[in-house]
Amino acid sequence: MLKGKHLIGPRDFTLEELDEILNLAHLIIENPKEYSKVCEGKLLAALFYEPSTRTRLSFEAAMHRLGGSVIGFSEANSSSTAKGETLEDTIEVVSNYSDIIAIRHPESGTAERAKKHSSVPIINAGDGSNEHPTQTLTDLLTIKLLKGSFNNNVIALCGDLKFGRTVHSLIKAMSRYENNKFILISPNELKLPDYIKKEFLIENNIEFIETTSLEEGLKHADILYMTRVQGERFEKYEEYLSLRDSYILNREKLNLAKEDMIVMHPLPRVNEIQTDVDDDPRASYFRQAKYGMYVRMALIAKLLGCV
Ligand code: NCD
Repeated sequence: MLKGKHLIGPRDFTLEELDEILNLAHLIIENPKEYSKVCEGKLLAALFYEPSTRTRLSFEAAMHRLGGSVIGFSEANSSSTAKGETLEDTIEVVSNYSDIIAIRHPESGTAERAKKHSSVPIINAGDGSNEHPTQTLTDLLTIKLLKGSFNNNVIALCGDLKFGRTVHSLIKAMSRYENNKFILISPNELKLPDYIKKEFLIENNIEFIETTSLEEGLKHADILYMTRVQGERFEKYEEYLSLRDSYILNREKLNLAKEDMIVMHPLPRVNEIQTDVDDDPRASYFRQAKYGMYVRMALIAKLLGCV
């Protein structure tokens, strides 16, 4: 039963519940009209304390396309936070005005804190470098539709594995399925945090290697998940500059990859995928972004109990 649940991390839902959302997303893609009024009269509050294009607009588009309405803000300084209000108080108030809340915040752990003060479902739309479960739903739908199975995949994750919350949530999700292998490609400074390696990979006996070489990972991957170096999380800007262009995927490098590999990226991209990759049939990131809206429609409709 998904009605009334919060989504803070992808493991908050059982595999069956994830399937339920992904299957509904697929049905919505096939017949969007049938769902265009299911959330009529419902209100989503989108509280975005951090910049966003895809996530915020896809949440808003999703709610409108379900027949519901949206309130919210897109920068912290246009809310009472600028006057010193705590997150907890904001949530107490907003959960009286709305039926469901999506929150993005630069600090890790904020969605979990919000949950304790909310009378309506909280959806974590990204908390610092911690988690981004609705991006993971988007990624799962992309893998389901383009690769067909969540099992038996070699998944290469490349770029900022330290601060990249989409990577953290995706590993936590994909490590629940059978026989997946992970190739973790990053500079030494941006390796996957030890706790994720230990708790989700090692303790589940999941095979993984760590490498600094994109070329090495590319050759074996069924899924290549590229990420942006998360400049906003660095203490020293010079360090960011020195790591920013560690990996640049271009058409020439793609020649090393399997014919049926897919290239994913949560977007926005900076330099890590050159535009000459965009018309390669393996480039899947814009389709991935499109699926994000449908999967958020499915998520909202389920958490509100509208379908
Ligand atoms: C990601 C994020 O916010 O973590 N973007 C997104 O939501 N699609 C990735 C990023 O900003 O690099």
